[in-house]
Amino acid sequence: MSKKKFSVNGNLKDSVNTVKFLIERTQFINNSAAVIPTRTDDFGVNKVARSLHPKVQNLVISRIEEHADLAKSYYFKSEGAPVAYFKAGQYLTFRLEIGSSVVTRSYSIASSPASALNGEYQITVKRIADGFVSDYILDNWSVGDKVTAYAPEGNMTYCPLRDAENIVAIAGGSGITPFLSLARAINQGDEDCNLTLLYGCRSSDEILFKAELDDLSAKNEKINVVYVLSHSEEEGYEKGFVGADIIKKYAPEGKYSIFVCGPGGMYKFLETELPKLELERKYIRFEVFSSGKKTQEEPKEYSITVVNRGDETVIKASSSETVLCAFERAGIEVPARCHTGECGFCRSKLVSGKVYIPEGEDKRRIGDMQFNFIHPCCSYPESDLVVRIN
Ligand code: FES
Repeated sequence: MSKKKFSVNGNLKDSVNTVKFLIERTQFINNSAAVIPTRTDDFGVNKVARSLHPKVQNLVISRIEEHADLAKSYYFKSEGAPVAYFKAGQYLTFRLEIGSSVVTRSYSIASSPASALNGEYQITVKRIADGFVSDYILDNWSVGDKVTAYAPEGNMTYCPLRDAENIVAIAGGSGITPFLSLARAINQGDEDCNLTLLYGCRSSDEILFKAELDDLSAKNEKINVVYVLSHSEEEGYEKGFVGADIIKKYAPEGKYSIFVCGPGGMYKFLETELPKLELERKYIRFEVFSSGKKTQEEPKEYSITVVNRGDETVIKASSSETVLCAFERAGIEVPARCHTGECGFCRSKLVSGKVYIPEGEDKRRIGDMQFNFIHPCCSYPESDLVVRIN
């Protein structure tokens, strides 16, 4: 009996409070300004976030340096806002319009993080066979040109919570750049780890930044550089490929992390070599910038119907190139950064058709797999496709 009475009073009290609240809120709304006031000040944290993660960076080529082996370094200054800070090992993604194609390509930053504080980035581009974008850059970019880049990204950075404090870096060709950045950062006191750099080239005249690497190695005991030549026997250099034996010979005592950046052939070779070291998987990291091509005997031609906010465009595609390559050739722009399936920027819905995703490159979330979302940067057509890009 008393329980029922308590409940009625409680409900009544709630109702009175609700009406009171509605009256107060109505008065508040009626008394408020007709125009929403805009803030003239800005929170410091927002400014920091914008400077660390700008949507785009408008850069100007300030200097070009030629190297051996058909490579060039490009130095950029910011046009306006300061350049975004980065960690040694990260990359910049550039947006380029080449003919009717709109493409994005990523290049590891070679400069030290401290150089970003002085408003400068450096990347190094090497000519490669059939390199659509690298050829374009090497043949066309000049001092004073304006280019568009996104914020620095990438996970091949030293993290004391995750990595051993000894890093064994394996570089091939122009894959030296993230480790040059790391060596510079260690020497400037911006990173606190030990670096053993195993740099593989075909011959000594193809080694990039040799004078600087030798200098850093000589003056800083945390940096040790070993050159490994695959096609030439020369005094003072290791001969062969960077594999388990060479790693064991030069790796420091105790735990070490392995970072790898180089051409595709080097990854293939290391696939069978690294397991011999019996390292925990978390101590091995690769930086891969895919060309978006796969070699096969007879490429097949397919069509892709691209659905973009209700509009449909039919484009040509080849089974030997990724869906993203087909988009780029057709001038269809989808956001893309890593080109390796990792960042998820290019995520699109496969409405119908079949794609091939190479083993080890399928980094989609389980939910995305179930609902047929793909990463076009590492998906190859195996039939005519319908893909929704937003
Ligand atoms: S560009 Fe990063 S997942 Fe496709």
